[in-house]
Amino acid sequence: MAGKGTEGFLPPFKHFATDAIHAGQEPEKWRSGAVVPPISLSTTFKQRAPGEHADYKYVRCGTPTRDCLEKAAAALDGAKYCLAYSSGLAALLNICHLLKTGDTVICMDDVYGGTNRYFQKVASENNLKVIFVDCTKPKCLEAAITPDTKLVWLETPTNPTLKVIDIQACADVAHRQPGVLLAVDNTFMSAYFQRPMSLGADICVSSATKYINGHSDVLLGLVSVNRDDLYERLKFLQNSLGAVPSPFDCFLCNRGLKTLHIRMKLHFQNGLAVAKFLETHPRVEKVIYPGLPSHPQYHVMQKQCTGCPGMITFYIKGKKENAIAFLKNLKVFALAESLGGYESLAEHPAIMTHASVPEKERKALGITDTLIRLSVGLEDEEDLIKDLDQALEAAFK
Ligand SMILES: Cc1ncc(COP(=O)(O)O)c(C=O)c1O
Repeated sequence: MAGKGTEGFLPPFKHFATDAIHAGQEPEKWRSGAVVPPISLSTTFKQRAPGEHADYKYVRCGTPTRDCLEKAAAALDGAKYCLAYSSGLAALLNICHLLKTGDTVICMDDVYGGTNRYFQKVASENNLKVIFVDCTKPKCLEAAITPDTKLVWLETPTNPTLKVIDIQACADVAHRQPGVLLAVDNTFMSAYFQRPMSLGADICVSSATKYINGHSDVLLGLVSVNRDDLYERLKFLQNSLGAVPSPFDCFLCNRGLKTLHIRMKLHFQNGLAVAKFLETHPRVEKVIYPGLPSHPQYHVMQKQCTGCPGMITFYIKGKKENAIAFLKNLKVFALAESLGGYESLAEHPAIMTHASVPEKERKALGITDTLIRLSVGLEDEEDLIKDLDQALEAAFK
């Protein structure tokens, strides 16, 4: 298709690979000219006179290593600024501190279990009113907005049922009321496949623990913004709340994102192959993969994304016991929570990542006992498919 990328998605963002490798990493800024940014572990920085410091003064306020990561990540999001936190949930906490007591948050009804838990069991019990709305229908969002609404929180595709939200349509609705911020959790996509701020979002938030770092060895959150006032307040909160990542984690994450573009291409290729295989398998009831034409919001994905990651959910035929037997019989896929690493993972959301979502809500969202979530990694496609095939057969013996 003319002007389109792989499988009819948007073409890749320009200069992505060059920015991943060079933005914020200029060797000239180190006296040594080091091409790989050094890790600065110092927690404090010498001042010329009391209160007169150079670029840095204390580790929580900022470090050279964190700076390298924040600059590279901002470039990838197409944003002016990026701030790093000690986890994706710490990033959520900081964003919620932009709000005041009594403000209302509208949250997509299907989100990561930890996000749901924070909104339902922490924020709602403290100072915020949180309502959950199916934002795949922008009309439902429009109906839910009141004068108290100050933040709309989207996640697309959602975790774990991979519903896709039209970001631009929701931004148009949210911004009809002045003062409403639209935040998009971009964890599942990474900036390589989706740039929420180019679609009207005010805030792009990511658990870099997943695809951005990509090696399952760092816990880290990132928040990108364009507005100067938002950046200034978030920077103040980052220091005041103190949930910042260590220099070593920043170094690792900065290193991980240098290969994000290469990894995402292969996650897409393997994910698509696995999804197509599962769709034809007699032991599989239904496959949900936003990169397949059978996905209900496939056209939204093609309109706003340059591709699709390795996240697949499917309903296995049979009962909970078959789902558990399938997971126990996998050999290449590891049975584990998390996602987005080079290694393939499989999990049971109802028992694992989404156990904290109340049972009634889980059922309503489709998080049933036969739902399985896969994070398809970078192994050989043939080995992944063989592994799934043998585990599906073994699950019914
Ligand atoms: C979509 C999404 N957002 C946020 C988070 C939280 O990130 P972290 O584990 O880095 O705190 C997760 C974790 O799995 C997630 O899947």
